[in-house]
Amino acid sequence: MFEDLKAFFRRNSLESYRRNGYDTPLDGMDERVGVKSTIIAIVNQKGGVGKTTTCINLAAGLVKKNFKVLIIDLDPQSNASLGLNVNVDQYFSSIYDVLVHNAELDQAIIPTYIKNLDIAPASSLLTGAQLEIADLLGRERLLRTSVWKMLNAHIRYYDYILFDCSPSLNLLTINGLVAAQCVLIPIQAHYFSLEGMKELFSTLKVVRDRINSELEILGILPCIVDTRKKMTREMLDQLKDYFKDKMFQSVIRMNIALAESSAHGKAIFDFSPYCNGAKDYAELVEEVVRRTAPIDSVAPEVKVI
Ligand SMILES: Nc1ncnc2c1ncn2[C@@H]1O[C@H](COP(=O)(O)OP(=O)(O)O)[C@@H](O)[C@H]1O
Ligand SMILES: [Mg+2]
Repeated sequence: MFEDLKAFFRRNSLESYRRNGYDTPLDGMDERVGVKSTIIAIVNQKGGVGKTTTCINLAAGLVKKNFKVLIIDLDPQSNASLGLNVNVDQYFSSIYDVLVHNAELDQAIIPTYIKNLDIAPASSLLTGAQLEIADLLGRERLLRTSVWKMLNAHIRYYDYILFDCSPSLNLLTINGLVAAQCVLIPIQAHYFSLEGMKELFSTLKVVRDRINSELEILGILPCIVDTRKKMTREMLDQLKDYFKDKMFQSVIRMNIALAESSAHGKAIFDFSPYCNGAKDYAELVEEVVRRTAPIDSVAPEVKVI
C-alpha cells in the first residue's frame, strides 16, 4: 500500500532539507536573495485531523520563543483566522485577492492579538478562487511568487511562515505545496487516515518532481490521540516503525481545552497554559525548531566524560 511513500522517503532526507533549505537560489523570477524564512505547509486532505489547531498553536509557541511568525490561511472556512479572533469580514484584502486579483500579500496581512504573530486571512470567496485561477498561466505558483516578492523586497520579515491548508488536494493546497519548503502532516492514528496518506504522498511526489524540487517532509504528527486506547497505542507504534524519523517524537493528546481555546479565539498557551495540550504543543515547537535549524547553528553535542 505504501510503495509511493517508500519511494518518496528514499529520495528525501531531513539532512538535505537542512543543507539546502534556506537560501538556495531558485529558478525563475521568485529567486530569493539571502532571506532566511522557513515556510511550512500544514497539510492533510482529511478534515478534522488537527491542521488548524496545530497551525495556531505551533505559531503561538514559535512566537513564545521569540520568532516572528506569519500564518497564511488557505482554507475558505477561515478557521485559523477565527481561532485567533480575527473577524475576516472586517478586512478589505484577503488571500483571495492575492491569488485572484494579484494584490500584494503585504496588503492582506493583519496583526493578531499575539505580538509578532500576523495572519493573512482567508475568505469564503476562496471557494471559487480555484475556478478563477484555473486558466491563469503559472496558476500553481501564484502564492509562491507573492510570498517571495514580499520577502525579497524586505517589506516584512518572518522567521516562520505557516500555511493552514484546506481539507482537499485542490489548487489552493497545491499553491501551498509549491510555495513551501516543507510539509507538516497532522494525522489521526487510525487505519482510515492512513489510506488517505497514499493520495497525499502521490501529490507531494508530483509537486516535488515537477515544480518544487526542494519540498521535504518536516514530520508527521499524530493529533487528537487518545492514549488510553490500546488500539491507538499499537497504531502509533506501527506508524513509528514505518515512518521512522519522519514521525515527530511529539504526540498531541486529545485535550478538550484545545477545542475550547479555538472557540474562544485564543492560543492554548494563553487559554490554559498548564494543560496537556499546551505541554504537547510546547514539545512540538522545540522539535520543529530543532528540525528546521540550519546545520551550522545546531550546537555540537557536549561529551560528558
Ligand atoms: N488534540 C485535540 N484534542 C481535542 N480536540 C481537538 C484536538 N485537536 C483538534 N481538536 C478539535 O477537533 C476539531 C478539528 O480540528 P481542526 O484543527 O479544526 O482540524 P482540521 O483543520 O484538520 O480540519 C476542532 O473542533 C478542534 O477544536
Ligand atoms: Mg482546518
